[in-house]
Amino acid sequence: MIEPNHLPTSSQPPSAIERVRPLVRTRQYREFTEDPPDQAALDAITEAARWSGSSNNGQPWRFIEIRDRTSLRRLAEAGLPQTRPLLTATAAIAIVLPVDHDRAISHAFDDGRAAERMLVAASMLDLGAGISWVRADVREAVGEILGLPADRFVRTIVAVGHPTEAARRPKSAPGQARLPREQVVFEERWRKE
Ligand SMILES: Cc1cc2nc3c(=O)[nH]c(=O)nc-3n(C[C@H](O)[C@H](O)[C@H](O)COP(=O)(O)O)c2cc1C
Repeated sequence: MIEPNHLPTSSQPPSAIERVRPLVRTRQYREFTEDPPDQAALDAITEAARWSGSSNNGQPWRFIEIRDRTSLRRLAEAGLPQTRPLLTATAAIAIVLPVDHDRAISHAFDDGRAAERMLVAASMLDLGAGISWVRADVREAVGEILGLPADRFVRTIVAVGHPTEAARRPKSAPGQARLPREQVVFEERWRKE
């Protein structure tokens, strides 16, 4: 009998690397089909984001779920080329932060934690997501599209949707997507090249 491929083929418990596979296989997608994600999926992604840790548990973020195609395309056009994922995205989540120069670094760190969680959550829901960074020179335009007050800004917009076949293809030759492990992970002490 042929086993369905999502079932374990042996009674061995999954290895540590298999257990972290949802993290390892989370990638950046930049092109999506016309089929939008369910509202429940989008809400699950913002729920995962809302539960991210932040410096001092300050939770500086607010999340805007965007499904309106006109807004998505306006955001894309405002920030190209970084916002390319929003050209075809059927949904997106903007991470809104306070304008606060004293906490800029810790807020940027918190921003990244929430963004990565959203990418992982999308991947776990068989969706794809992509980070679009909003350059400083287009922050005002993006703020206007999203109706932000003057004391808030967006650096990161996470595009969400069903990636196209082309977007799912590997972007690099086999073995080239990341630096070799031995160049990146050291034991006990810094190792000179
Ligand atoms: C801080 C940060 C900013 C990024 N900004 C953008 C961006 O503005 N536009 C974009 O298309 N991808 C952006 N990316 C995605 C990276 O290009 C992507 O993670 C990298 O190429 C690896 O892709 P992969 O995970 O699919 O292998 C950003 C990633 C990070 C971590």
